[in-house]
Amino acid sequence: MKYIIVTYGCQMNVHESEKLAAICEKMGYELTESRDDADLIVFNTCAIREGAEDRVFGNIGALKKLKKKKPSLIIAVCGCATQKESTASYIYRTFPFVDIVIGTFNLPLFEQYVLSVKNGRQMKLLSEGDIDENIPYKRTSGDNAWVNIMQGCNNFCTYCIVPYVKGREKSRKEENILNEIKSIISEGKYKKITLLGQNVNSYGKDLIPQVSFAKLLSDICALEGDFKLTFMTSHPKDLTDDVIDVIANEDKILKDIHLPAQSGNNRILNLMNRRYTREKYLDIIHKIRQKIPDARITSDFIVGFPTETEEEFLDTKKLVEEVKFAGIFAFMYSPREGTVASKMDGQVPQDVKQRRVNELLALEKEIQKRLK
Ligand code: SAH
Ligand code: SF4
Ligand code: F3S
Repeated sequence: MKYIIVTYGCQMNVHESEKLAAICEKMGYELTESRDDADLIVFNTCAIREGAEDRVFGNIGALKKLKKKKPSLIIAVCGCATQKESTASYIYRTFPFVDIVIGTFNLPLFEQYVLSVKNGRQMKLLSEGDIDENIPYKRTSGDNAWVNIMQGCNNFCTYCIVPYVKGREKSRKEENILNEIKSIISEGKYKKITLLGQNVNSYGKDLIPQVSFAKLLSDICALEGDFKLTFMTSHPKDLTDDVIDVIANEDKILKDIHLPAQSGNNRILNLMNRRYTREKYLDIIHKIRQKIPDARITSDFIVGFPTETEEEFLDTKKLVEEVKFAGIFAFMYSPREGTVASKMDGQVPQDVKQRRVNELLALEKEIQKRLK
């Protein structure tokens, strides 16, 4: 019996798929590279932008033929897109050959759903879930080991679906994280350890007693072994001086800092509920560069947020020009059902978003050329 997992979305989802892979192998399935040989196909989905969801729908549709050829094939769809009730029921109704539709919170129970398929199709959504502390993973990312330090997000940026599909912020106990990392080091296969969370800087605020992200970083660096440490994603409003100091002082920590700015305009940042200003963002950048001269700072931007004017978009271009990032991602704003921004007046037309994203990426390319 063979399985294949198709993963969409961010690094956290890649790591969730490593958990699914461990569950599949525990059930006795072996990995295959091809959907044609598989007895179990799992789609681990993403909901961050409309495009991500559309790709999933298209690819599920294409499985109909496979199921016809092999009626015993089990098809499961899980993850952030199916955590939304509306998307889960759309998939369940539109694709009768899909056997299992679950969200993000019941993923640890995946085995149970696969075993129950013999009794009929399964569609189950839970509205919250505790963070799994000790679930095994089948690591699939070469010499990089992902380590989840928290789940969920409390920030409710007005454009973002993540808090709705991943729930509130929950940190793992520091002891469990350190134990997982010790066992990663003792395997001797991994050169790099990447800590994952939607907003790693607020790690530990929900623990009793509280543990700061800076302390977690130094405690990890104090572990014996030859490894490099990195993390994502930092939120500018929470990137404190003590974290910058630890990055500067610890040789084990890579000097890569992904610090999404989203916009260079204060009115838009406020509408996005990002809770920092352009000036505060630039302050942090200067602080980082002062203390970590070889820092490689990267960022994310959203263009065409509702009501964004041409001048406000220019502020974003000016910020990119001023900071000279080591790299940026630029996205066209995509309205997500249920978020505050999706209900705002002044949605920006698609052709304007497209032009702005092209302009921003062209500017970035030119800056990269100049920097070389
Ligand atoms: N937690 C991380 C990012 C998660 S999503 C953070 O706060 O930075 C990754 C990126 O997708 C975001 O930085 C943002 O630029 C983009 N994004 C999120 N929602 C979006 C939407 N509705 N439309 C377009 N881009 C979006
Ligand atoms: Fe989304 Fe904002 Fe949370 Fe990042 S910090 S996951 S952008 S709500
Ligand atoms: Fe990641 Fe997409 Fe979910 S970006 S957290 S897989 S919505």
